[in-house]
Amino acid sequence: MLQDKITTLTSEINAFSTTNASELEQFRIKFLGTKGIIKDIFEEFKTVSVEEKKVLGKVLNEFKQITETKYNELKEFIDTHSTQSETAKIDLTLPGEGFEIGSRHPLALVRREIVEIFAKLGFSVAEGPEIEDDWHNFSALNFPPEHPARDMQDTFFIKKDSENGDIALRTHTSSVQVRMMENGKPPFRAIMPGRVYRNEAISARAHCFFHQIEGLYVDENVSFADLKQTLFYFVQELYGEGTQVRFRPSYFPFTEPSAEMDISCSICKGEGCQMCKGSGWVEILGCGMVDPNVLENCNIDSKKYSGFAFGMGIERIANLKFEIKDLRLFSENDVRFLKQYKSSLI
Ligand code: PHE
Repeated sequence: MLQDKITTLTSEINAFSTTNASELEQFRIKFLGTKGIIKDIFEEFKTVSVEEKKVLGKVLNEFKQITETKYNELKEFIDTHSTQSETAKIDLTLPGEGFEIGSRHPLALVRREIVEIFAKLGFSVAEGPEIEDDWHNFSALNFPPEHPARDMQDTFFIKKDSENGDIALRTHTSSVQVRMMENGKPPFRAIMPGRVYRNEAISARAHCFFHQIEGLYVDENVSFADLKQTLFYFVQELYGEGTQVRFRPSYFPFTEPSAEMDISCSICKGEGCQMCKGSGWVEILGCGMVDPNVLENCNIDSKKYSGFAFGMGIERIANLKFEIKDLRLFSENDVRFLKQYKSSLI
């Protein structure tokens, strides 16, 4: 009898449950499909007597309702819980959501550019510790004890020790030259970027820490002409062809002779502006031939080998490149400042 059949099927449906989308689909096909049970039952219903139809019609409609409700409930549960159907909901034709990418720090951009220029000349990159001993920061670099040149760089001392040597924050990256020469054999051709510290009051033009890049080239027959040509090439690459250079005699304990190098102001092209204080020239680095004493301190035969070294402040180079007038901006982490320096080099 149709009535009994419906009763059995109703309990089957009530007992049914699944969290699996394909099982639910089987259920739909079995009961609600175009060739499904409900369709069959409705066909059979046509054949019963008018009397029976009155009663069965209602039962049948209820049965259909129960089946559909069951299906819809299970479907909703599966849709909200299954990741597979979540992805199926994503409309791949919609335009993507834009996201903001960070920007490189202007000092990192400049450092990277400098490293790349010297890499073309065969210079590798070396690094050393920021906490240094007296030997690497001063003594090996030909600063005798009590020598007034030690006062050229106001030092942050960490530990004063007259017997074993003081420990301090390195005041320049020249300490890395010493470490490199002590631990290897010539030829040396490297640049050494890093942070350095000096005990100076913070202002627009000075900071208690900043960044330098040191360069060292030691081999047989290295001359001052090599130094000049290397640095000339460097500034043509960094500031563009036609950048003029001039060398002024200077003094550093670790180089002899020593010089400071100026370039024609990259902002006004030598006309005179605020950045070059009207002179048309700006100093960008110190350099010189490595003093033979320094080579000997690092166990390198100064009769056989000679070399040149140079050191520059990355902030200074960045100031000129980006026309930044206040050094403090580099370390304040103000995103309004930093995000101006988007680069194609991600
Ligand atoms: N160490 C020097 C400074 O900090 C720069 C320098 C490096 C000069 C190498 C000559 C050679 O001022």
